[in-house]
Amino acid sequence: MKILVTGGLGFIGSHVVVELQNEGFEVIIIDNLSNSSEKVKDGIVSITDTQPVFENLDLRNKESVQDFFKRHNDLSGVIHFAASKAVGESVENPLLYYENNLNTLIYLLQEQQKIGKGNFIFSSSCTVYGQADEMPITEANSVKPAESPYGNTKQIGEEIIRDTCKVSKNINAIALRYFNPIGSHDSAKIGELPIGVPQNLIPYITQTAAGLREQLSVFGDDYPTPDGTCIRDYIHVVDLAKAHVAALKRLIEKKNKNNYEVYNIGTGTGSSVLEVINAFEKVSKQKLNYKIVDRREGDVISAYADTTKANKELGWKAETSLEDALASAWKWEQKIRG
Ligand code: WQD
Repeated sequence: MKILVTGGLGFIGSHVVVELQNEGFEVIIIDNLSNSSEKVKDGIVSITDTQPVFENLDLRNKESVQDFFKRHNDLSGVIHFAASKAVGESVENPLLYYENNLNTLIYLLQEQQKIGKGNFIFSSSCTVYGQADEMPITEANSVKPAESPYGNTKQIGEEIIRDTCKVSKNINAIALRYFNPIGSHDSAKIGELPIGVPQNLIPYITQTAAGLREQLSVFGDDYPTPDGTCIRDYIHVVDLAKAHVAALKRLIEKKNKNNYEVYNIGTGTGSSVLEVINAFEKVSKQKLNYKIVDRREGDVISAYADTTKANKELGWKAETSLEDALASAWKWEQKIRG
């Protein structure tokens, strides 16, 4: 069975390609290399010994998308990662985010509508919940007005898919709302490619430990949490990748109850910034140089998942501990600095 993975050379996409190939799927990757490199494909092949087909296309080009589907009208599913994902950049350049994250989604769905059917997995985010009223967060929690254009593109993306599925009953879609993906494949052959100054906590921690960054700034310790720092649900990227395969199989095997479903993908456990730092110091056996600074604009106090629905309906559960996930991130950092 042939699966299209857009953004398949990205951090999460590449880990999903590995898990799809492990399950015997034939994978076609579309990536415009705007936030990745072809070297990632070599990493995938070194793990699975299987070449994915790779097409360097920009999905913002409608004709390219139409031409691709003319050449591949026998896909068993599409997993759509290709999108811009830097929260801060989206505030500076909203139109780039609305064009790249939404036009590409529309063009892909239009092609599935033309074919008359399709299975579609959408990369969404817990960002859609904003600051949820209670923890853990279930899929029934209300979607809050987005704090950034990036978050808004995830909300609008879900609505586009929902409305498409309402009229196109043969398009079956699942949106996976990721919590915080971290770490890398235990082979350390693929991982989060560092481009510029990391915005996210874990790559900033590993780069500080590797001596690339002087000191980690902890954005506030005066939040209403046990140790004053923000709480998140850090999920190992391979567990997250396996959730995509489980969701795809649910659609291929026609086990879905509706033709548009949504699942929280996290560990179900919340960890504070200081708890993450302590866990990292334990696994790396070195002290981390950090200081407490002011809060970061737009941060929510706490966000961690209730994963009951995914556990029951996808038959999927995260298995990697925070420490093991951090150890894999540290192993990857040391490998790329090697
Ligand atoms: C985690 C915690 C920070 C960096 C974002 C997006 C989300 C998804 C994941 C794309 C927060 C603190 C961070 C630092 C710090 N992105 N922190 N010092 O903000 O939960 O989620 O990335 O899909 O959509 O919103 O992740 O890693 O940036 O921050 O203290 O140098 O670490 O304040 O509490 P976040 P993060």
